[in-house]
Amino acid sequence: MGYEGQTALVTGASKGIGRALAVELARRGARVVLLARSEEGLRGLAAEIRDQGGSAEVVVGDLAAADGPDRVVRELRERGLAVDVLVNNAGAGSAGPFLTRPLDAQLSSVALNVDGLLALTHALGADLVARGSGGIINVSSTAGFQPMPYQATYAATKAFVLSFTEALAEELRGTGVHVMAAHPGPVATSFFDGTSATIHPIADTPEAVAVRTLDDFARRRSTSYPGRVVTRTLNRTFAWVPRLLPRTVTARATGALNRRLGLHEVVDTDLPRGSR
Ligand SMILES: NC(=O)c1ccc[n+]([C@@H]2O[C@H](COP(=O)([O-])OP(=O)(O)OC[C@H]3O[C@@H](n4cnc5c(N)ncnc54)[C@H](OP(=O)(O)O)[C@@H]3O)[C@@H](O)[C@H]2O)c1
Repeated sequence: MGYEGQTALVTGASKGIGRALAVELARRGARVVLLARSEEGLRGLAAEIRDQGGSAEVVVGDLAAADGPDRVVRELRERGLAVDVLVNNAGAGSAGPFLTRPLDAQLSSVALNVDGLLALTHALGADLVARGSGGIINVSSTAGFQPMPYQATYAATKAFVLSFTEALAEELRGTGVHVMAAHPGPVATSFFDGTSATIHPIADTPEAVAVRTLDDFARRRSTSYPGRVVTRTLNRTFAWVPRLLPRTVTARATGALNRRLGLHEVVDTDLPRGSR
């Protein structure tokens, strides 16, 4: 499908991959609806897109809040914004040993990565099927293909997104609504901000991820491993290898890898001293 004249809602559009997806969608002729919590960031991006001749709307919302998705859907309807392409990109990480990391942050990442995505998909997906066109892109992660010690909650949320997206794609086959999961590997964003974790040195740029994700969706692929050629190949391979190994072996291997990356020692860096 092409993007010209389509209305695309991008969640988590204020920065990182979501911002890059919104810019690229606008460049391809879509009217973008930018959603996140930080109004200022969204308004700045909308102004940039309009300056380039594009069309952008701003919806401020917290998708991790219990009534957040409902409020967003209500606002979209009140403003007459009928979404053709839903890009469920907003997501939060949770790195470090499960038991010693704050529970609240992990619960709120589940609320955003799982509940928020489900609720928006449920509400807007029904509209898409009624119209018999458009589609849904769920931004998952290569983390979703295996258990990941020291990113246990995050990987579990992305495994949910992977399984849910594949099942929904099959349920909607033949309706005219296309559903795709995108699985980036490490991407250079502010994803780990506020903690001592750092993004992997081979990380892709958000722009490379956005371009490939949208190309793959336009080709009606069911899965995208977006990024540079080298990382696309690596990420595809890392997604396949766990299917061939016992899950305990995979968990040991990913645990060892994450220890090498220092994720077993992650602490918050933006909390007042003494409160960690
Ligand atoms: N970076 C990576 O290495 C990587 C790799 C694979 C997959 N991914 C996935 O890619 C997606 C985007 O990640 P990113 O790296 O671009 O992250 P990011 O730079 O931290 O951006 C996250 C975006 O989500 C928004 N957001 C956070 N909490 C929200 C909430 N409660 N309600 C609404 N919006 C919220 C943020 O805006 P506000 O703070 O203004 O709300 C921001 O726009 C996520 O699903 C992530 O899991 C990332």
